[in-house]
Amino acid sequence: MKGLYAGSFDPFTLGHLDVLEQAAKLFSEIEIVVGINSEKQGLFTPEERVILIQEATKHLPNITVNLFKGLLIEYAKATKANALIRGLRQVSDFDYELRMASANRRLNPEIPTLTFWASEQQLLTSSSIVREIHKWGGDTASYVPENIENALKSKV
Ligand code: PNS
Repeated sequence: MKGLYAGSFDPFTLGHLDVLEQAAKLFSEIEIVVGINSEKQGLFTPEERVILIQEATKHLPNITVNLFKGLLIEYAKATKANALIRGLRQVSDFDYELRMASANRRLNPEIPTLTFWASEQQLLTSSSIVREIHKWGGDTASYVPENIENALKSKV
């Protein structure tokens, strides 16, 4: 069974890793895809994010990391994914996740969205919090994998 875990991952956090580790117990193969949003100037370029995620997930078997642009559900079909993987933290995520899962289901009911709850320690972790703390020179070590913390430190 192949899962497709898509996101902006700017940057990939311990919350993302937590969801991935849960999903990796159920799927024999997971492809992580970094969505390219050409209108948004990110902290890391999409190419940098791919490399950082590859490093942060190398302890897990059968994980590949790629870039993608377009409709996710079409990419999922073309790459023979069985399900989309998403993480949920709080009620405030619900609306956005429901809209996305519903749109994807309407586009292709054959590929479900499977949602994993973030673990208690990661309930308040988000890429946007990491970007905010980093912007003001704060310590992000408890939010991101070590290689990403190092990359953040070298990106002033
Ligand atoms: O980490 P994010 O920002 O919540 O990830 C969002 C992402 C990249 C998964 C989502 O925006 C996406 O799938 N974009 C591609 C366009 C698409 O298929 N949208 C969902 C159906 S409208």
